[in-house]
Amino acid sequence: MINDSPSPENKVISLEGKKIKKIKYDALNNPEQFWSECAKNLVWFKQWDKVLEWNPPFAKWFQDGKINAAYNCIDKHLKTELKNKAAIIWEGENGESITLTYNQIFYKVNQLANALKKIGIKKGDRVTIYLPMIPELPISMLACARIGAIHSVVFSGFSSQSIADRANDSKSRIIITADGGFRRGKVIPLKNIVDEAIEKIPSIEKVIVVKRTNREITMGEKDLWFDDFIEKESIYCESEWMESSDPLYILYTSGTTGKPKGVIHGTGGYLTHLYSSAKWVFNFTPTDIFFCTADIGWVTGHSYIVYAPLMHGVTEIMYEGAPDFPDQGRYWKIIEKYGATILYTTPTALRAYMRYGDNIPNSYNLSSLRLLGTVGEPINPEVWLWYFNIIGKQNCPIIDTWWQTETGGIMISMCSGIENIKMKPGSGTFSLPGIEVEIVDQNGEKLENGKKGYLTIKKPWPGMLISLWNDDDRYKKTYWEKIPNSYSAGDFAFIDKDNYIWILGRSDDILKVAGHRLGTIEIESAYISHKAVGEAAVTSKHDEIKGESIIAFLVLKSGIVSSEQLNKEMKEHIRNTIGPIAIAEKIYFVNKLPKTRSGKIMRRLLRSIVNKETIGDITTLEDEASIEEIIYEMNELNKYL
Ligand code: PRX
Repeated sequence: MINDSPSPENKVISLEGKKIKKIKYDALNNPEQFWSECAKNLVWFKQWDKVLEWNPPFAKWFQDGKINAAYNCIDKHLKTELKNKAAIIWEGENGESITLTYNQIFYKVNQLANALKKIGIKKGDRVTIYLPMIPELPISMLACARIGAIHSVVFSGFSSQSIADRANDSKSRIIITADGGFRRGKVIPLKNIVDEAIEKIPSIEKVIVVKRTNREITMGEKDLWFDDFIEKESIYCESEWMESSDPLYILYTSGTTGKPKGVIHGTGGYLTHLYSSAKWVFNFTPTDIFFCTADIGWVTGHSYIVYAPLMHGVTEIMYEGAPDFPDQGRYWKIIEKYGATILYTTPTALRAYMRYGDNIPNSYNLSSLRLLGTVGEPINPEVWLWYFNIIGKQNCPIIDTWWQTETGGIMISMCSGIENIKMKPGSGTFSLPGIEVEIVDQNGEKLENGKKGYLTIKKPWPGMLISLWNDDDRYKKTYWEKIPNSYSAGDFAFIDKDNYIWILGRSDDILKVAGHRLGTIEIESAYISHKAVGEAAVTSKHDEIKGESIIAFLVLKSGIVSSEQLNKEMKEHIRNTIGPIAIAEKIYFVNKLPKTRSGKIMRRLLRSIVNKETIGDITTLEDEASIEEIIYEMNELNKYL
C-alpha cells in the first residue's frame, strides 16, 4: 500500500531512545546540508553560495542562487518524454473539458509573458489576477513568474472593495480577469466587479479580460481581450534569472486586524519546500492523476495545483465549479471519468458529501484512487473514517496536512512517500523532515505531551514567508514576537504520548468558515463601515458542515431601529465589502457588547454564548449585566429574525 522499500530515506535509526527515519535524522542533524540536497532537485541557472542567511526573523534561502519558477514547472520537462504529457485536465462546471500538455502550456505562458513585457511589465512589478478556475489562471501566474513580475491572485469570490484594497496595497499595474465565471450554473459578473474596483485603484494601467462566458460586457479604454493580447506574440520568452529570495508572489490573507496581510513568498526556498514536501507527502509518480479541489485563489491552489505538481510533471485535474453541481456526486464523477489517483480536498467538502449519503459515491468507480488528502481545517474523526471506508474502500492512506498561507507548503502530515506509520483519525501525525514543531505555553516554555498549548516552529524552513508586503514590522510582531525565538502559528495543538500532533483550531481572532480564512476584526470593520452600525463584534458558532459559521452582534447608532430590512441590507453590505463568504449566518442587534474594563470586546464570551458553552471566567468584564442582557436580546430576536 505504501512505499516502504528499504531505501536510505526509510532506514530507521535510534535517537535519544526514539526511533526516527534517517531522512528526519539528517534534517535535524544538519539542516542546511539537508535542504541544500533538497534544492538540488530543482534547475538552477546559478548555484547558491550560501544555503541560509538568517537574520532573525528574516531568512534568505539559497543566497545568490538564480532560478525561475516557470522554467522549473514547464521548460525543464520539454526535453523529456513529458513534453506532450497532459499537465492540466480542466473540467468546466458546465461539463466542457480541455487537456493542456506541458508543451501547450509553455506556448501560452510564453506568449502572455511577451505580451506583458510589451506593455512594459517588468521584474518586480505587481500583477493582480482575478480569475475563476480556468486554465488562464495558472497560465497567468506562470507568465508573471517567467518575467519576474509578482503575481497577486485575488480569490474570485471577493468583492470589488477587496480587490481594490489588495491592488492598492500592492500597487498593481494591471489586472487579469474574465468576463464572468460559472458557479452553480450562474454567471458571476467578474468584469463588472473589476470595473467597480478599478475606479478606486489609480495604479491600474490595463485590464486583460479572458472570454469565459457569452455575457455582454462593456470594454473600456484600459480593457484588452486576453486572446487578442497574446495572439501575435512569439512563443518564446527568455526566463528571467531571479535571485532565490526575490518575491514570486503576494497572497493576501486574513489576520487579527482589519487589514489583510500581504504574505510574500520567495522563489528558490519556496520551490524547494514544495518540491520536497510533495515528494514526501504525495509520493508523486509519472502515472499519477492528481485532483486537488482547492481554488487557486487560496494558498493550497498556489502551492499544490500550480507549482508543486507541475514541477513534478504530474497530470492534474483542475475543476472550475461547485462540488454539488449539477448533482451531489460531482467530485466522484470527475475521479471516475479521469481516473484520479490522489484526491486532496477539505473537511468541509467531505462533511457535505457524507451528509448526501453513501449511495452517491458508491455508485461511482473510485478504484483508481491510491491516496486521500485533507487540508485547511481540523477533520472530525467520524468524517475521517467515512473518507477512509467509503471513498478509499480501506485501501488508501489518509494524509491530514497541516500548514498555512505563511508556511508556503505542508508542515505536518504523514509522508506516504517515505514512511509507513499507524494513522490516527484526526491527527496530522508528525512534522515533515526539517520542520521542528514545539507546543509551548505563553512564555514559550515547552509543554509536556498531552498538554494543550501554542503551536510553534523552532527553526526557519525554506517555504516560510519572506515578510509581509511593505510591513516588515507587522511580520516581526505577528509571527516572531508573540513567543520568543519561534514562529508562532496562531493554532492550539497538543502532542500525544506517541508523539502524534493534534491541531485544535485557532488561538486568535481568525475564523475558518468552510475552510476559508477570515478575520473577525476584518468582518467587524466591514460592518462598522455601514452608516447604521455603531459597534460590531463577530464570533463563530460550530457548524455541522462548514466547521464554523459567522455570528455577528451589532449595536446600531442611536435612533436607528433594527428590522428585517436592515438585516438584509447588512448581508448585501458584507457581500459588497468583503464577499459572500463573509456573510453572517445570523445577526443579532444588541444594545451593548461585553467588554473588558480596558474596553476590549470579549469575543470569547460571545462565542461561549452562541455555542451554549459554559461562560468561564468573567472577572475582567466591565459590566457583568451585559451578558444577561445579550442573552435576553438574542432570545427575543430569535423570535423575529
Ligand atoms: O488553523 C489552521 C488551519 O488553517 C489555518 C491556515 O489557513 P490558511 O492560511 O488559509 O491555509 C489553509 C491551507 C493550508 C491554520 O492555521 N488548518 C490548515 N490545515 C489544517 C488546519 N487545521 C487543522 N488541520 C489541518 N490539517
